[in-house]
Amino acid sequence: MPETTSDDRLTPDLWRRVDAYLTETLVGHEAGLDDAVADQSAAGLPPIEVAPVNGKLLHLIARMSGARRVLEIGTLGAYSTIWLARAVPADGRVVTIEAEPHIADIARANLDRAGVGEKVDILLGRGADVLPTLVDQEPFDLVFIDADKESNTIYIDWAARLGRAGTVVVVDNTVRGGEVANPATENPQIIGVQRGLEMLGRDPRFDATAIQTLDAKGYDGIALALVV
Ligand SMILES: C[S@@+](CC[C@H](N)C(=O)[O-])C[C@H]1O[C@@H](n2cnc3c(N)ncnc32)[C@H](O)[C@@H]1O
Repeated sequence: MPETTSDDRLTPDLWRRVDAYLTETLVGHEAGLDDAVADQSAAGLPPIEVAPVNGKLLHLIARMSGARRVLEIGTLGAYSTIWLARAVPADGRVVTIEAEPHIADIARANLDRAGVGEKVDILLGRGADVLPTLVDQEPFDLVFIDADKESNTIYIDWAARLGRAGTVVVVDNTVRGGEVANPATENPQIIGVQRGLEMLGRDPRFDATAIQTLDAKGYDGIALALVV
């Protein structure tokens, strides 16, 4: 009889228990972050913020790369923004772009309550319209892309233009339950993710990889790129 492999045992129940264990063990709970998710939910916004383990991953990537200026596209209730703002130094800045005014209001309240409001600019508008207005700013050290997936190639292009050699780019939701590997997909969001990954693989401005993730948000992944 073949030995049971870990693949055979991989069920949603197992990976959810592992995610809960990792979250409790390595991330824990903190009022500013937990309250942001609670308020976002009470306001009827969808639970599409990054999972706690990935919020902490973003935070650590920002600190490991010494990021002082961070650009985020897609704010929602500012859960990931709070993680990022806590990673930049006192003179650092997080610029986050949100298309919906009522969502930006919720994000602002959550950032202020978490004590990081002074480090964060929320720019209201569609990413593709707002990004060109940032060309005169100092380059960003880290760019986190987490908005409408159909626009990923536009956002990845701007990440290079608004960054510098050494800028780190993180693109969220790059596996989407495995659909990213479906060449016949007609889902415009999946096609947007595929085009973004293909761009990262082919565009000489980037060196990139991706990791698959199983966490509170299900089976998904992130792409990680360096502007070279
Ligand atoms: C996945 S949520 C962001 C989650 C957040 N980064 C977090 O992890 O807590 C995506 C957000 O992008 C916003 N959005 C959608 N299309 C956009 C666009 N074209 N420009 C800017 N924001 C957009 C949505 O309103 C939503 O709040």
